[in-house]
Amino acid sequence: MLRNTYPAQYDAMAIAQFGSPAQLQLMRFDRPVLAAGEVLINNIASSINPIDYKTRAGLGWAAAKNGDKLPMVLGYDTLGEVIEVAPDVSDFSVGDKVLGFVGFPLEAGCYAQLVKSSAAQLVKLNNGSVNNDLASLPLAGLTAWQGLFDIGNLQAGETVLISGASGGVGYLALQLAINAGANVVAIASLANQALLQEFANVTFVDYNDISSFQAIGDIDLWFDLIGGDTAIKQLAQVGHIKRLVTLPTMSADVVCQSVAAKVESAQGMLVSNNTNQLANLSAMVENNTLRLNIVKYVDFKQAPLMHAQLESGELRGKIVLTF
Ligand SMILES: NC(=O)c1ccc[n+]([C@@H]2O[C@H](COP(=O)([O-])OP(=O)(O)OC[C@H]3O[C@@H](n4cnc5c(N)ncnc54)[C@H](OP(=O)(O)O)[C@@H]3O)[C@@H](O)[C@H]2O)c1
Repeated sequence: MLRNTYPAQYDAMAIAQFGSPAQLQLMRFDRPVLAAGEVLINNIASSINPIDYKTRAGLGWAAAKNGDKLPMVLGYDTLGEVIEVAPDVSDFSVGDKVLGFVGFPLEAGCYAQLVKSSAAQLVKLNNGSVNNDLASLPLAGLTAWQGLFDIGNLQAGETVLISGASGGVGYLALQLAINAGANVVAIASLANQALLQEFANVTFVDYNDISSFQAIGDIDLWFDLIGGDTAIKQLAQVGHIKRLVTLPTMSADVVCQSVAAKVESAQGMLVSNNTNQLANLSAMVENNTLRLNIVKYVDFKQAPLMHAQLESGELRGKIVLTF
């Protein structure tokens, strides 16, 4: 019945070709038709992740696979309200507030007023406590969780080094590691030292002072969120590292090879959806055991400017897009 109260078309920020932030343009699409198992979401908020601007620029796997499927709507994080469900969907109803990690890695589609999603990708939120900040959680939070625990096998009492600890994934990983009883060595810029040392059991290392890396002790898990030559140089400074998990997929092989002789295991990873983990992460935010680092809330039409500022380093932290 509610279906007719929403328009037949919707707006989204999409790319018709790869390139600069200016390629992200406002486009109008027809309201999607649902297939079995799907729901339609009226998007309230989304967020920007580095993969969005890498894909927009034509870099990485999602861009390589989507070159012949443009225009493409970017974005994987959605927080919104269900406005339609396919007839076979019984666990969601119109009016439910949901959080989701949607269409990763090939489909995306969350820089949009309406988001079509498989119901299996969504977590139902308590309608009374919906907080737009949660839109910054799915991709970054799941990556942090899976990198530390599923792939990195971090245990209480171990020491984890997080390189890129002030970023979208790192700031969450740092807190999840502390909550799990680990000691944390956090690598970031001096500008973020105070932000990271608000938490107990954090040893801070300034990435611009590479000579200070020599003083880093034994590391059980090195969680590298930087990749490339920078990661290779940082890893070379530290003698005793048991396990490495490196996030940027484009450099994962070379970073792993660079430490093969001195670590017990080294691997890249690709985040995947897990609604149990996402529900747990959102519960942690709601009960204040996991803080989000939101620097800006902007209308989704400002996505090109936000991409430019994130890519140049002018802005750091999570940006929530609102609709
Ligand atoms: N494989 C996967 O499944 C997967 C999933 C998620 C993300 N990723 C990738 O992982 C990377 C991190 O993502 P993110 O969302 O956390 O990015 P982000 O929010 O852009 O954070 C990056 C952080 O890196 C820090 N940094 C810059 N140069 C550094 C250096 N030399 N040493 C240590 N830290 C440095 C910055 O800290 P300052 O602000 O202090 O300068 C910044 O806060 C991206 O490349 C992303 O594409 C991969």
